[in-house]
This record gives sequence, C-alpha cells and structure tokens, in this order.
Amino acid sequence: KTIYVLNGPNLNLLGQRQPEIYGHETLADVETMCRAAAEDKAQIRFLQTNWEGQLVDWIQEARGEACGIVINPAALTHSSVAVLDALNMFDGPVIEVHISQIHKREPFRHFSYVSQRADGVVAGFGVEGYPAAVRRVLSLTG
Ligand code: DQA
Repeated sequence: KTIYVLNGPNLNLLGQRQPEIYGHETLADVETMCRAAAEDKAQIRFLQTNWEGQLVDWIQEARGEACGIVINPAALTHSSVAVLDALNMFDGPVIEVHISQIHKREPFRHFSYVSQRADGVVAGFGVEGYPAAVRRVLSLTG
C-alpha cells in the first residue's frame, strides 16, 4: 500500500526558511523520516509543490492509489477551498501536519479549511509531526 505525503507552498525551502519557526531540517530530511516511519509496511510517495492546482491534482490521483494522505498544505491551509474539496473526494484517512504551532501564531493561521476534513491534526511538533502522522495512517489502515 501507498501513503501520499503532500507538501504545499514554500516547504521546498525548509531548512533555510525562517529556521527559528520551522527548524533546520530540510524537506529531504523529512522524506527520510517518513520512509523510516513507514518501515516495510507502506510505500511513501513524497511530493511538494508551490501550486494549488498541482496539490489538487495529486489529491485526485490519490483516489484509488493511496491508503491515506499526510498533508502539510502550508499557506493553502488557511485559504484553499479547492484543496478541501479535493480531500473530501478521498475515502481514506487524512492527517494534517503543521511544523509550527499555528494556534500560537497570527490569528489568520488559526483557521484551517483542511481541518474540516482531517481525521487528525499535528501542530507544533516540528518535523517530528510527519513520522507521527505516517504511523497514524498505518494504524488506521491496519
Ligand atoms: C505551516 C504553517 C502555515 O501557517 C504556513 O503558511 C506554512 C507552514 C507549518 O508547517 O507550520 O507555510 O503549515
């Protein structure tokens, strides 16, 4: 089985991007952590885009392909009805990840469209939230 791990805008620059908020690990480090968490129990398809439509396309592709989705929609969390609508067409578990503790930050980060669909939300665990989310998908999908 396959778990999609999807990352939204600006996460390609993880490690360089406001490290006081997002830490020094890179997205490649996060990918390694996700693959380690999946062990031999699932394949990981690890993707990042700066484009809303690309994220929608990948979520649509996940239908019938993925047993679950781990998603850090980044800024699209707070703006994208299109990402929410795409997730609402997916049947398996969806776990939302935020590296930072969004509820402690600016008020515009407190609302998440994606949380209207997510089965679990991790925020403020740094990049450790990703492998935790992968393990949660594994336990929800047997
Ligand atoms: C983020 C939080 C969002 O508010 C922000 O726009 C991001 C990253 C996080 O992982 O903490 O790009 O999703």
